[in-house]
Amino acid sequence: MKIDILTVLPELLESPFSHSIIKRAREKGLLEINVHSLRQWAVNEYGQIDDYQYGGGAGMVMMPEPLARAIEALSQPAAYDEIIYLTPDGERLQQQLANRLSLKENLLLICGHYKGIDQRIRDKYVTREISIGDYVLSGGELPAAILVDAIGRLIPGVLNDETSALFDSFQDNLLAPPVYTRPADFRGQVVPDVLLSGDPKKIDEWRHEQSLQRTRDRRPDLLEP
Ligand code: ADE
Repeated sequence: MKIDILTVLPELLESPFSHSIIKRAREKGLLEINVHSLRQWAVNEYGQIDDYQYGGGAGMVMMPEPLARAIEALSQPAAYDEIIYLTPDGERLQQQLANRLSLKENLLLICGHYKGIDQRIRDKYVTREISIGDYVLSGGELPAAILVDAIGRLIPGVLNDETSALFDSFQDNLLAPPVYTRPADFRGQVVPDVLLSGDPKKIDEWRHEQSLQRTRDRRPDLLEP
């Protein structure tokens, strides 16, 4: 999979993709990430990419011209499967959406700033708008990093144990069960016996029951039809 990211703050996206699972995915050649500075397509030599909004009001708007030129340049040689704009008024990111996007080949993510991007770019080029939650961040870079992380780890071959993403919280609308590692007795707090039993069937049943219980307690909304 190839993911291009268009941003006014490329520096903000240097670290998130240089560690752990996403780093390994890139090294294995399963995921290519290219971060592009929108200023390359600025309207003048001062690097201008934003302007005052029509109708008045505080806050700048990202101009259509640099974005259109960037999108058109980056769409060569291959058209994108999706052009995604990260915005608080987009569709809320959920595991199902991450699953679906992990099957795509070629994505462009657009990070907004200030008051956002000119509506005409959204109308003409953007195929999907995604929010990472009901709160407003100062730009789309951190949401883009979260989206790439959520998608990247699902690409087949990225996780060592290919099945492990299947047991993540939310994959079956259930939260993940509690997990334990050594020692079996930590300052008097002991690991549940069943996990030491060596009986895979019993362990599976216990984990499923714990998942259900946790979901009922913390996120009953996930159990509603
Ligand atoms: N940009 C600013 N806030 C955002 C959010 N919650 N989700 C996606 N993009 C954003």
